[in-house]
Amino acid sequence: MSGPAARVLDAFTDVFGGEPDGTWWAPGRVNLIGEHTDYNDGFVLPLALGQGVAAAARVADEPVLRAHSLHEDATVTLPLDQIAPDTVDGWSAYLAGVAWALREAGHEVSGLEVVVDGNVPVGAGLSSSAALECAVAVAWNDLAGLKLSRDELAAAARRAENDVVGAPTGVMDQMASLHGMAGHLVFLDTRSLAVEHVPFDPPAAGLALLVIDTRAPHALVDGEYAERHRSCALAAERLGVRALRDIDMADLDSALARLTGDDAELLRKRVRHVVTEDARVLEVVDTLRSGADPRRIGPTLTASHASMRDDFEITVPEVDTAVTAALDAGAYGARMTGGGFGGCVLALVDEGDDVRVVRAVEDAYADAGYHPPSAFEATAADGAHRL
Ligand code: GLA
Repeated sequence: MSGPAARVLDAFTDVFGGEPDGTWWAPGRVNLIGEHTDYNDGFVLPLALGQGVAAAARVADEPVLRAHSLHEDATVTLPLDQIAPDTVDGWSAYLAGVAWALREAGHEVSGLEVVVDGNVPVGAGLSSSAALECAVAVAWNDLAGLKLSRDELAAAARRAENDVVGAPTGVMDQMASLHGMAGHLVFLDTRSLAVEHVPFDPPAAGLALLVIDTRAPHALVDGEYAERHRSCALAAERLGVRALRDIDMADLDSALARLTGDDAELLRKRVRHVVTEDARVLEVVDTLRSGADPRRIGPTLTASHASMRDDFEITVPEVDTAVTAALDAGAYGARMTGGGFGGCVLALVDEGDDVRVVRAVEDAYADAGYHPPSAFEATAADGAHRL
């Protein structure tokens, strides 16, 4: 073992004494396409990353969560029966939230001693938080003998995030972390929770999927995300559908025309993004399933970015600059990925072109006076598991 897994093993003995019962791993994710569709019952197409969170854990002799984070250099002790929404904050809320959600779902959860550490960039839109939740969820599942399915664990991890951490997110990140598969995308219908693993191997086609961390500060992210969620729910209600997923491309224009009132223009833009984004996910899945050259998905990725920029209004100058520079340097497609207002941009490029594309983005950043970005090549990895 190396990296976070080796570090949590070493630290466990220092912090708690003795050996852990085991070490578990859960990956972060990058979303190829399907943004802000998950809380609209729609489609998403993420992949689990090679970067993630490791958790060395042991059943505790009393019903408490004793957790140590190497990243935060901090330890907390929380009696399980005192964990509830609004009682915990900071990094430990992600772990405590999982205990609370499992107990709320009626499961007998043992006390746990756990050390966590990870290598997913934090706050970059790569789901370091879902990785933390899922690493602890799989550890608890095994150690307490809960025998829960991956969907049930994802639901508990999402409840932790929604109700204890307090972020009104969808279920994409947790499902990606739990259902990831090496060499594959996780095509998820967020209404039925049906998962299809779609083969995706850019190097085999001479391609690289670059993830460029714009490192843009995203101060407004919480309030803006919640506002988008509310606007979509309001639009669905006015249109008389259960969720925006229920509007087809063929009905889009008539649906937009049915929205009236002071906020109609704004709601039309939000609806247009979600409906066209669902269609783009299905289009990318069709192309990849057919075995066609993956370069052909490039324009659809770029169209997703334009929709996020113009209709959903969740991009910032740093991400728009990175997308434009990558496309100008020859990327087949580029888009912001994740919740928005900063975070990462992904670009599909020829394998030998990665350095040149990254340099083009760096140059554009230097010209604009932004913090230098950082970049890595994403490879689809397996979902959460015991090491
Ligand atoms: C965040 C949320 C997800 C999803 C994306 C946007 O990552 O956690 O549930 O809504 O934003 O696609």
